[in-house]
Amino acid sequence: MNQPHISADIVLQGLSKRFDKTLVIPDLSAHFRDGEFTVILGPSGCGKSTLLNMIAGLEEVSAGRIRIGDREVQNDEPKNRGIAMVFQNYALYPHMSVANNIGYALKVARMAKQARLERIRAAARVVDLTDYLDRFPSQLSGGQRQRVAIARAIVREPKVLLYDEPLSNLDAKLRHEMRMELSSLHKRIGATSVFVTHDQVEAMTLADRIMILNKGQIEQFDTPDVIYHKPASTFVASFIGAPPMNLIKVRGENGETRLTDGTLLTKKPRSLKDANDCLLGIRPEKISLCDDGKSDSDPVAVDILYREDLGSHTILLSRLPDGQEISITTPLGQSALIGASVRICIKPEHCHFFSPQTGLRLA
Ligand SMILES: Nc1ncnc2c1ncn2[C@@H]1O[C@H](COP(=O)(O)OP(=O)(O)OP(=O)(O)O)[C@@H](O)[C@H]1O
Ligand SMILES: [Mg+2]
Repeated sequence: MNQPHISADIVLQGLSKRFDKTLVIPDLSAHFRDGEFTVILGPSGCGKSTLLNMIAGLEEVSAGRIRIGDREVQNDEPKNRGIAMVFQNYALYPHMSVANNIGYALKVARMAKQARLERIRAAARVVDLTDYLDRFPSQLSGGQRQRVAIARAIVREPKVLLYDEPLSNLDAKLRHEMRMELSSLHKRIGATSVFVTHDQVEAMTLADRIMILNKGQIEQFDTPDVIYHKPASTFVASFIGAPPMNLIKVRGENGETRLTDGTLLTKKPRSLKDANDCLLGIRPEKISLCDDGKSDSDPVAVDILYREDLGSHTILLSRLPDGQEISITTPLGQSALIGASVRICIKPEHCHFFSPQTGLRLA
């Protein structure tokens, strides 16, 4: 789109939201950087849409401040905040052509016809809908309709684009395509974007930074890389990854971690202070079967309870000697049958440690 690079940072300060007796967002402060693509990720009901709606002005704040660019906006009308929003239910006007759907807001704002048509064409070009401007929504695929909804948002040249689960109605293949399109769209138009989802794959692939929300509070706000490799809490650890990180109750002392029945599981990294009871986190894909006897860490015997063959890899659910369950992802050609007993190796450098009381990361 032929437009100057316009975007703005967003600062949330002491934001809270209460619906009658329910405190949905207790006290949230965050900074979304200018031009950044942020994904807000969290389980259903954690307050993602409420937070986005407060930024958009569709929901009043109970307390706190919202700054967009150099303007404090928490009391402004939505239309004066320089934002545009894309929803899951994109609700196009069925009796209007694609062009008129895209340009509706400009018409309401009384923009002159010629200027309006130019903006519509430019927005349609960005989302690759140039050949569809005369069609009606019923003549479009789900992905094309979603692209109309995005064009309708960007046609207003917003400084900030807000998305609330915009891909949830699409099938898996289309979601994948739309993810790539959104990503390249963001690179081209550069608006500060905040994208709400409960889909970890969307979060990992789209975000510059991910905000993980739990009961209206930020569990971690960092790059996908840090979220995956250094989860700040068991909540984050078990929200990312498929299957998620295993969390095993262990006792750590004298340079070792042992299962609850005393079985030696792995060495304890030096960075971890002696902590008696803790939770050891290990991703299923970091556990290897070590029946070749050549491992440099101590093998532990597990019983295979269940297996899921996914073609490229297999997921084994198995039981540790003290009865706790652990998931293991094995690459093609390396697997075990249900009922078998195999030995696994857990390397200390792949282990994460969390407090069993607070769930927070220890090392
Ligand atoms: N208008 C309202 N009145 C009362 N409670 C509300 C209202 N809107 C939302 N809530 C409550 O606030 C909480 C957060 O809702 P919100 O819609 O923000 O969740 P969400 O994270 O977007 O969930 P989902 O992933 O299911 O869309 C929920 O417990 C919900 O029931
Ligand atoms: Mg929601």
